[in-house]
Amino acid sequence: MDLSRFRSTKFSKDPATTSDSASHDVSPERQPSGWSLRKKLIFAAAVTAAAVIAVVIGAVVGVKVNRYPDYTPLNYRLVDTYQGKSFFDKFDYFSAEDPTHGFVVYVDSITAQDFNLTHASDSSAVLRVDASTPNAIVGRNSVRIESKATYDTGLFMFDIVHTPYGCGTWPALWLTDGYNWPENGEIDVLESTNGGSHGNEITLHSTDGCNMDVKRKLTGEAVFQSCDNSTHGNAGCGVIGHPTTYGEAMNANGGGVYALELRAAGVRAWFFPRDALPADIASEDRIPDPSSWGTALADFPSTKCDIGSHFRNQSIIANIALCGELAALPQYYDHMYNCPATCPEFVAENPDAFEEAYWEFRSFKVYQAT
Ligand SMILES: *[C@@H]1O[C@H](CO)[C@@H](O)[C@H](O)[C@H]1NC(C)=O
Ligand SMILES: *[C@@H]1O[C@H](CO)[C@@H](O)[C@H](O)[C@H]1NC(C)=O
Ligand SMILES: *[C@@H]1O[C@H](CO)[C@@H](O)[C@H](O)[C@H]1NC(C)=O
Repeated sequence: MDLSRFRSTKFSKDPATTSDSASHDVSPERQPSGWSLRKKLIFAAAVTAAAVIAVVIGAVVGVKVNRYPDYTPLNYRLVDTYQGKSFFDKFDYFSAEDPTHGFVVYVDSITAQDFNLTHASDSSAVLRVDASTPNAIVGRNSVRIESKATYDTGLFMFDIVHTPYGCGTWPALWLTDGYNWPENGEIDVLESTNGGSHGNEITLHSTDGCNMDVKRKLTGEAVFQSCDNSTHGNAGCGVIGHPTTYGEAMNANGGGVYALELRAAGVRAWFFPRDALPADIASEDRIPDPSSWGTALADFPSTKCDIGSHFRNQSIIANIALCGELAALPQYYDHMYNCPATCPEFVAENPDAFEEAYWEFRSFKVYQAT
């Protein structure tokens, strides 16, 4: 907080900071020494009043800058579990044209099973990109699943064994209402492109009136502060984690658990590598308690964003897009990841390059406040 700005430009009567003409053409009226006692008293009172106003404004600005929501622990109970052989039964397969213009064909559930692109066992569920078709000239097969259940709030625990990566890929595990976008918002819990070695990006997308230029408590690196879809080419307001929060580095450690808390006070996300799970997450029968986890990786407080009206009716979506609006951008495809040829040429001709392009989930669990 910089009070000097208010003092010098708005409230000071110091001749040196008033206009040029005043300091050159100093009339007796403007010289305190030539003033009557009455004028001096009035002037002193005015200076005092100005100082008080400055302190009050400073305090108000200070309180605003320091405002932070009340993340008092909520009483959570388990409402949904996505796990085991029935994992995919709770999802619809999105098989329309990719809305993000990728070089990808999203297949329906029958085709996904025929090609073994989705496979659920007692221990995990796998979603993969087709890694066998030699020349996928109209786009490579992949999957996008959307939970039938929708949520306005919740504590979402995503237990992840393997994250997809590789040139041309654009994987995401996210929440949105695809039928009312961007009105009902979008929360990208995991998102990456290509080699996936630059850290996971957690991002909110919204309509206007959702800003993060406020006090936040997070360990990740914030990238944009406006979540409004019409700013920064719909980049959203993101937070990037350490390189070990995604990709080969995360997988090498057996994956880990991402927790997302969506509540009126704000949206927060944590990541715990497999070898460092808090006891309440590692245990099957305990209710996870975010207040015991320390500073979040990403924090989107409600201070300048009415979370309840910007984010609602959210489905859980897992997909692996190819090329399209993000992965094929030269800044990622060529510069950040040095991928060969053009994105569609590479994706069409190199099935072997997609062997690591799969999600493997142990479970998703959703808790809501009672
Ligand atoms: C299908 O994929 C799963 C998961 O990767 C794998 O365990 C299984 O062996 C595959 N099934 C066939 C028939 O290839
Ligand atoms: C942002 O959302 C508005 C609707 O609120 C829509 O008209 C506009 O096309 C969107 N812009 C982008 C870049 O998606
Ligand atoms: C909620 O989302 C579903 C799709 O998942 C959609 O059919 C429905 O219209 C949405 N409801 C509201 C109230 O926005």
